[in-house]
Amino acid sequence: MRGIFLTVEGPEGAGKTTIIKMVLERLANEGKEVVYTREPGGIRIAEQIRSIILNPENIEMDSRTEALLYAAARRQHLVEKVIPAIEKGMIVLCDRFLDSSLAYQGFARGLGVEEVLTINDFAINGLMPTKTLYFDIDPKEGLNRISLNEEREINRLDLEKAEFHEKVREGYHQLMQRYPDRIVKIDASKTIQEVYDEAMNEVQYTINKISDR
Ligand code: TYD
Repeated sequence: MRGIFLTVEGPEGAGKTTIIKMVLERLANEGKEVVYTREPGGIRIAEQIRSIILNPENIEMDSRTEALLYAAARRQHLVEKVIPAIEKGMIVLCDRFLDSSLAYQGFARGLGVEEVLTINDFAINGLMPTKTLYFDIDPKEGLNRISLNEEREINRLDLEKAEFHEKVREGYHQLMQRYPDRIVKIDASKTIQEVYDEAMNEVQYTINKISDR
């Protein structure tokens, strides 16, 4: 049997990492074989690329360079970690994937969603997520949550203006229309328990649907 590839998306401070880890724990307790991973990163080479992209000192980074680096990190991570796990029949939960590039680089940075999709098509070579949970929140609220969380590192993209984060959200909303069957919206402004319940329902539904085939 082939596994399931689930991705989690949303703006900064939507709480997706907290929720994804709760979902992971629940699935593991049910005896399912699950892998948690994140982008950019997840494996050595991609973590190295991540530190170049997110380094606050790299202010001269060109937008296309940034998009290509994300795509390069994505490729290596897929080949080394995601694909082998899916082939073993595991459930892969990935914190950010293709849609982050489309929303951040394609839409918010203005490189064009089609252009960014083209370089990513080359990188992912047909491997799209089975399902994507999009955590929707007003960016002001998201950024406010981040500033309350002292443990979280502040990266180069967190330092972007509020306007940029508004655009990221608009980008995700467009992607929901483009991929209505794949992307499901979760209202991340609710309590952790409510968001978790909603996310868990979607994940269970997807798993059941795949196993019934
Ligand atoms: P990270 O610290 O993982 O943020 P978060 O906890 O919000 O996921 O940093 C990842 C940053 O990289 C985040 O600001 C979103 C951005 N990003 C892109 O712009 N494009 C991409 O393709 C990916 C994967 C991430």
